[in-house]
Amino acid sequence: MLVKKALSEADVDAFLARMVEVRGGTADALAAYRGMVMGAQSKGYMSTDWAKKQSYIALGQFMLATALLGIDTCPMEGFVPAKFDEILGLTDSEYTCAVLCPAGYRSADDRYAELPKVRFENKVVVEYR
Ligand SMILES: Cc1cc2nc3c(=O)[nH]c(=O)nc-3n(C[C@H](O)[C@H](O)[C@H](O)COP(=O)(O)O)c2cc1C
Repeated sequence: MLVKKALSEADVDAFLARMVEVRGGTADALAAYRGMVMGAQSKGYMSTDWAKKQSYIALGQFMLATALLGIDTCPMEGFVPAKFDEILGLTDSEYTCAVLCPAGYRSADDRYAELPKVRFENKVVVEYR
């Protein structure tokens, strides 16, 4: 999954234009919202690091959707983004690798595939208040 290294005012406006396209209405009606988002953009809140975290929201959806289709995924971190950017020809682009996630059909002779999933119990990871 790729993210933009930097988000500009033009990116925010492209998103707002898409909102108008999908939901109707006018750009003027979104002026207050635009001001809020541009405020975040101008303060540097939309950093590459932020964008990478955002991509994990889509990653989760991707993994769930593929699982529902019977397709396995293998999310991978711990790689060197600059090297992957180089391999993918992204070095001089406005994009960088955030996370890797190959998807495919399970091999019949994958001895790991049928192993029970290792998960902490709910009571350990969920706190009800
Ligand atoms: C090269 C490589 C890098 C990986 N990096 C991560 C990682 O950073 N974090 C992680 O949770 N799993 C990582 N994995 C493990 C797989 O995503 C693993 O299948 C998964 O964590 C286990 O999921 P499961 O318990 O649902 O089977 C990596 C696997 C490979 C082959």
